[in-house]
Amino acid sequence: MTTHPVAPSLVATLPGHYYTDPELFRLEQERVFEALWFCAVRSADLDKPGAFRTVQVGRESVLITRSRTGELRAFLNVCRHRGAQLCTEESGEVRRNLQCPYHAWTYDLDGKLVAAPNLTKMPDVDRAQYGLITVALREWLGYAWVCLADEPPSFEETVIGAAVERLGDTAAIDRYRTEGLALGKRITYDVRSNWKLIVENFMECYHCATIHPELTDVLPEFADGYAAQYYVGHGAEFGDDVKGFTVDGSEGFGRLPEVAEDQDRRYYAMTVKPTVFVNLVPDHVILHRMFPLAQDRTIVECDWLYAPEVVESGADLSKSVELFHRVNAQDFDACERTQPAMSSRAYRSGGVLVPTEHHIGIFHEWLLKQLGGEHV
Ligand code: FES
Ligand SMILES: [Fe+2]
Repeated sequence: MTTHPVAPSLVATLPGHYYTDPELFRLEQERVFEALWFCAVRSADLDKPGAFRTVQVGRESVLITRSRTGELRAFLNVCRHRGAQLCTEESGEVRRNLQCPYHAWTYDLDGKLVAAPNLTKMPDVDRAQYGLITVALREWLGYAWVCLADEPPSFEETVIGAAVERLGDTAAIDRYRTEGLALGKRITYDVRSNWKLIVENFMECYHCATIHPELTDVLPEFADGYAAQYYVGHGAEFGDDVKGFTVDGSEGFGRLPEVAEDQDRRYYAMTVKPTVFVNLVPDHVILHRMFPLAQDRTIVECDWLYAPEVVESGADLSKSVELFHRVNAQDFDACERTQPAMSSRAYRSGGVLVPTEHHIGIFHEWLLKQLGGEHV
C-alpha cells in the first residue's frame, strides 16, 4: 500500500525582522516600490492644467502634473540646477510653469526648461537637456501609476495581470468602469505597521469572524475564514436578507450599468502588488492605496467611488461608507497590534500560516524574489 504524503497544515511566515529592520525596508524601497508600477494619484484629483501632486515613491519624491494639453506627466521632483526640491507642497496649482524657489529655474508643465536668470547669456545651454527628469506614467482604473525603473516591467502583466489572476479576465473588472466613477468619500489612515502586515491581513479572511462582525453579517460565507481572494473568479455572495453592501445590510444604490448579472450581490477583492487593494461591489468600488513611509508606518488612502449621478444627487453615502470604514479600522487595529510583536524574541523565526492563509506564502515568495535573494 502506498501512502500519499499529506501537505502540512502549517507553513512558515517571514521572520520578525522583515517587518522591523530599516535596512530591509530600504531594500524594499529600491527593489519593490521603485522597481514596480506604483499607484500614485487619482487622475481626477488633478482636475485642470497646472494642478500638481507630489508623492513619495520609495526614496524619491515624484511630481505629477496635468499639462496644458490635458495629459498627466510625472517627473522627479528635483531641480536640474542644484537639486532643490521643486514643489514642497503635497498638492497645488500653478498657472503655467513650475518655478524652483531657490534660483528661479522655470519649467513648463511638460518639464521643459523655459527660463532661468541669465539663461539668454548662456547660449550653449540646451534647454531640452536640462528639463525635469521624466518618470513613466500609465493610467488605469482612473489612477495614475508611475514607475521609477529605467525599464519598467510590463504594465499589462504586473498590474492588469493581477485582475486576470484574481477574476479570471479583465472584463470582470472593466465592467465596473472605475475610471468613470466619482469620488464619494476619501479617508486617510495613518497606520503604525509595516506595509506587508497590511497586505497579508487583506489577503486572508481567517480573521473575519473574529474582528469583522458587520462584514460577516453582509457576507456570511466570510465567517468560514475562506478569503475572497482564495478562488479565482469567486465573489462572496451577500446574505439572503441583505439588501446592499452597507453597514446594516440596508439598501445601497443601483447596480453599476455594465456589472453582469452573475456579479450582482457579490463582493470581489483583489490585491495589485505591491500597494493597491481593489474591492468591487455592485454599486461602488473601494480602492486602497498604500504609501509605505517607514518599516513601521504606512499611510493608507481609501477611496469610495460611486456612479457620478449618485454623488451629484447628494445621496447619503454614510451607511455605504461606514461598512468598509469599520472594516479598515478593525483591520488596521489588528495590524498595529501585530507590529510591536514583530521585534519580540517570540517571533524571531516567524509564525505560521494555516491552510486558509497559504496563499500569503506565495506573497512572501514573490517578495523574496523581488529582493533578489539578498536579504538581511
Ligand atoms: S536649485 Fe533650483 S534653481 Fe537653483
Ligand atoms: Fe479584514
